[in-house]
Amino acid sequence: MTKEDLIRGLNEDLAAELGTVIRYTYQAARCYGLLAAELRELLAKEAVDELGHAAFLMDVIQDLGGEPTTNPKRFEKPADLKGMIGLNVKMEAEDVSNYLAHARMAEQLEFPELKMKLEEMAADEAGHGRELRRLLRGL
Ligand SMILES: [Fe+2]
Ligand SMILES: [Fe+2]
Repeated sequence: MTKEDLIRGLNEDLAAELGTVIRYTYQAARCYGLLAAELRELLAKEAVDELGHAAFLMDVIQDLGGEPTTNPKRFEKPADLKGMIGLNVKMEAEDVSNYLAHARMAEQLEFPELKMKLEEMAADEAGHGRELRRLLRGL
């Protein structure tokens, strides 16, 4: 495992973050119904976190000598509230496991600060997942 493998992994994380910013902004515009106001508020708050994650990853990839991607990861577009939240719960969980895997790579390559920051971001995503699951349980 090399620095290039880590850069590739971080670029996948970056594409996922850019996709999430777009997905949450898109879903906020597309959701209707009783719970929509609450979901819109949550998505707006979480989109700001995801943008912060994307900005951090861009800086790190650049610092490591890579080229930060500007291509967002594609995402599904469920029409109903339950489908949207379910998709988000699933994708937040994927982000958690990807960040933890890349934190282990950063540790092996002896980038302790990056390892800790990636673990912190995994914790942020776990928190997003928890908030979204709470909404899902009410549906
Ligand atoms: Fe994120
Ligand atoms: Fe998240």
